[in-house]
Amino acid sequence: MIGESPWWKRTTVYQVYPRSFSDSNADGIGDLPGVIDRLDYLHWLGVETIWLSPFYSSPQTDFGYDISDHFNIAPEYGDLEDCRRLIDEVHARGMKIVLDMVLNHTSIEHPWFQESRSSRNNDRRDFYIWRDGRRAAGSSGGAPPNNWRSMLGNSGWHHDPTTDQWYWASFLPFQPDLNYRNPAVKQAMLDVVRHWLREGADGLRLDIFNAIFKDASFADNPFSLRPLPSEHNPDGFFQRALHTQNHPDTIAFARELRAVVDEFRDPPRFVVGEVFGHTDLLREYCGAEGQGLNLVFLFKSLRTPLTAPALRELVREFELAFPEPLFPTYVFGNHDRPRGMERLGNDPAKARMLAAFQLTVRGVPFLYYGEEIGLGHHHGMPHELARDPIAARYRFLPRWLLPSMRRRGILINRDECRSPMPWGVGPHAGFSSGETPWLPVHPDSPLINVDAQRGDPGSVLSSYRRMLNLRRHSPALSDGTLALIEPRADARRVLAFARMHAHQTARVYLNLSDRELPLDLRDAPGVRLQSNLHDTPEAASGRRLLAPWEAVVIFDTDGVAT
Ligand code: GLC
Repeated sequence: MIGESPWWKRTTVYQVYPRSFSDSNADGIGDLPGVIDRLDYLHWLGVETIWLSPFYSSPQTDFGYDISDHFNIAPEYGDLEDCRRLIDEVHARGMKIVLDMVLNHTSIEHPWFQESRSSRNNDRRDFYIWRDGRRAAGSSGGAPPNNWRSMLGNSGWHHDPTTDQWYWASFLPFQPDLNYRNPAVKQAMLDVVRHWLREGADGLRLDIFNAIFKDASFADNPFSLRPLPSEHNPDGFFQRALHTQNHPDTIAFARELRAVVDEFRDPPRFVVGEVFGHTDLLREYCGAEGQGLNLVFLFKSLRTPLTAPALRELVREFELAFPEPLFPTYVFGNHDRPRGMERLGNDPAKARMLAAFQLTVRGVPFLYYGEEIGLGHHHGMPHELARDPIAARYRFLPRWLLPSMRRRGILINRDECRSPMPWGVGPHAGFSSGETPWLPVHPDSPLINVDAQRGDPGSVLSSYRRMLNLRRHSPALSDGTLALIEPRADARRVLAFARMHAHQTARVYLNLSDRELPLDLRDAPGVRLQSNLHDTPEAASGRRLLAPWEAVVIFDTDGVAT
């Protein structure tokens, strides 16, 4: 079709956390053959692209975000054969696959780091960031080189006694940062990128991309009054992240990386960056003409309340910051954050509304596994048994601080949002036939699972499937521009916008309230109306009531492929 946007703008993405998705060999850990077993489900659901969190060789201290061999698969997830089969099976269903690229750091067990730390003269020494400490007289090791804090609040410098120097880690101490100022590192990591694109990845998700370059001056970060960072402001722990995050060299590197990704044209590929900062800064990663990262996560949506005024403001902000050829993203949960259902008070009516909003707005929707059935955040996992390395760090925090951190979206134990996918009513909700899954299943799984919702047209799952398929087959919803509409009804309760495409216009009305509200279509009828609550399309003229938490889409033509 002439003028159609590239596929990655029109797609819908579903994040699989492989460890928690489906266990095929009864060892309690989800794996790649398990994901393959569930592809028919994902295809039935109507998602077009799946993104897998890392499954490469790793000591699993941060469950794969600590890679020890970029070209191999961790045995608990399968082997290279399984990986190739997964890529082929995804493609055979007409779907796309996104792999996770952890470019910023490696595992401490990566051979590069093992060599690097062995002596100051090693050839790989400069693969990582080593500095002398600001030595206090008489002490061994002394003080760290400067005041820089890691993303988790402690000093990101770690003393290594073998060579009496300090290495830098933006995240946890066992994840040393690579030194991108060394051209050999950049080349080696771009080769990793090329390798997986050659293997058939359609897209790459870039882990903590905003940390890639640190300032070459190693000057102290300035003081800030902010105690805690947030999704849209990485300053925190009483310092500005001036020299450690969102460095201009990282933004320049986004373009270099994009040029590599664009070497692969058949089909075109894309990269989506995990970056934290103000919306306007995040846009810089994409470049004014879209010559940088294709997409960036806009995590502001993670904390926007589900109300008409708040969502209207969010859409306005994203539309202003990401006009064509740029494109926003909408995210309501991932493997690091409280599950979306948490904010919705575990109300299925609101989950059905979230599906309607996320799948009708202009921007690539990223769904997190389990969201489509309204899987809740798993509170009450005993902190002492936590597997997440972040939980271990916070074990000694005073209990009273935890609620305020939680309110800010800082998860103290990320296990809570990683509980196994509940497929049915069997043992461990059908996730594993082994004795003990790596994390316990959510206690609500007997009610909240795929089998229980599949045949029920009123379920959260049915709403997601309905909206995913509606978007997919509608040029306006998947590829149209967006204009906010002032609703005639109560603007505090109704959010309305139009999606416009050469071949179709769709108007969307979302009733974000517990009240029935009137919808008057006499002056602006359409040919078809689709609700998020049931399958049957209706005539779109006259008057109608919007049920509480109902969303409707009104199409002006029947240009909807089936
Ligand atoms: C990202 C990942 C998170 C990981 C961290 C370090 O934020 O999403 O899971 O722990 O980076 O790689």
